[in-house]
Amino acid sequence: MKLLITGGAGYIGSHTAVELLADGHDVVIVDDLSNSSREVLRRIEAISGRKVTFYQRNILDTDAMRDIFAKEVVDGVIHFAAFKAVGESVEKPLEYYHNNITGTIQLLHLMRQFDVKRFILSSSATVYGMENPSPLNESMPIGQATNPYGYTKIVNEQLLQDLYRAEPDWSIVLLRYFNPIGAHESGQIGENPNGVPNNLMPYVTQVAIGKLEQVHVYGDDYPTPDGTGVRDYIHVVDLAKGHMAALRDFDKAGLTTYNLGTGEGYSVLDLIHAFEKANDIKIPYQIDGRRAGDVAVCYADPSKAQEELAWTAQYDLEDMCRDSWRWQSQNPNGYEA
Ligand code: NAD
Ligand code: WQD
Repeated sequence: MKLLITGGAGYIGSHTAVELLADGHDVVIVDDLSNSSREVLRRIEAISGRKVTFYQRNILDTDAMRDIFAKEVVDGVIHFAAFKAVGESVEKPLEYYHNNITGTIQLLHLMRQFDVKRFILSSSATVYGMENPSPLNESMPIGQATNPYGYTKIVNEQLLQDLYRAEPDWSIVLLRYFNPIGAHESGQIGENPNGVPNNLMPYVTQVAIGKLEQVHVYGDDYPTPDGTGVRDYIHVVDLAKGHMAALRDFDKAGLTTYNLGTGEGYSVLDLIHAFEKANDIKIPYQIDGRRAGDVAVCYADPSKAQEELAWTAQYDLEDMCRDSWRWQSQNPNGYEA
């Protein structure tokens, strides 16, 4: 297949592009590089030994996007492009709603115009909100978002549900990612946060490399075995492979939702200790107060993707810790030379 990947220079998009190329698909990446770097494209090509068609464009630029759809006759779209920082979304709600919702709507309009009706959305476990108990499964009701970023994912899912109801010839897959960490085993591509990381694993790797002093553990009074928050960490390469498995659903019209998680919950301290063991590096930490909006426990019931897509995560927490560190240690400044 020939696939248009929006946000394909980003963390998850770049790993997905590598897997798609390895599987013989053709890839067209559209990314404005607002949260990524041109260097990523060179590395995707180096890893895969294949050429990638790349357009540095904002998906909100409808004229530019129309030209791309006219030139590149694609079979489907995998839509990663979005802003994703929870805290920033509270500061800049208009920017988040515009990029993450208007961006999707404009993209879908163009797809319809060019009769491209196969679509995969990057959704998130955040749509389950605070109310649903783990293990989270796809038949549970959508929860209440705790921040604008979370709402943008809920609105994206809702608008796709409504679109499919009105136009049932579309083929739509909503993929709810749990907590992606890790990096490609080559150490060439990985997560490259701007400034101080918001997420746990990049914070840990920056402590490991000496850029940050210690991890701040957000709360040890949750109702969990060690009191720290529990999450379903998933290797980004497993996540990438989940997209390939989801292409299966492109054979027929429909709208399907899948969790992409391992089904295993690990606490903040589990992750820190697993990182120490996998890489033989001490990670200093201190316990701080809870972070607003955090749930105590969030992990997937991944059985639907297993049954319907024959997809299961293959990598364990040790693999994730090892690969995150390989990426960080080989690229102390990310993609900047
Ligand atoms: P990322 O920021 O690394 O990648 C997103 C890419 O989209 C970036 O390269 C950015 O430059 C690009 N982009 C953003 N707005 C754009 C626009 N208007 N036009 C063109 N390009 C644009 O993020 P990621 O971690 O790879 O996340 C990918 C998707 O997965 C996002 O939709 C995110 O919300 C979703 N998601 C991520 C996580 C996570 O923890 N990383 C979890 C659940 C869902
Ligand atoms: C994991 C655990 C923290 C940082 C976020 C988004 C979610 C999704 C994935 C996009 C929690 C604790 C963290 C730190 C810590 N993104 N922590 N010290 O919050 O589960 O999910 O990314 O869709 O929407 O909310 O991930 O990595 O930030 O936190 O103690 O410095 O680590 O409290 O228990 P989270 P995270």
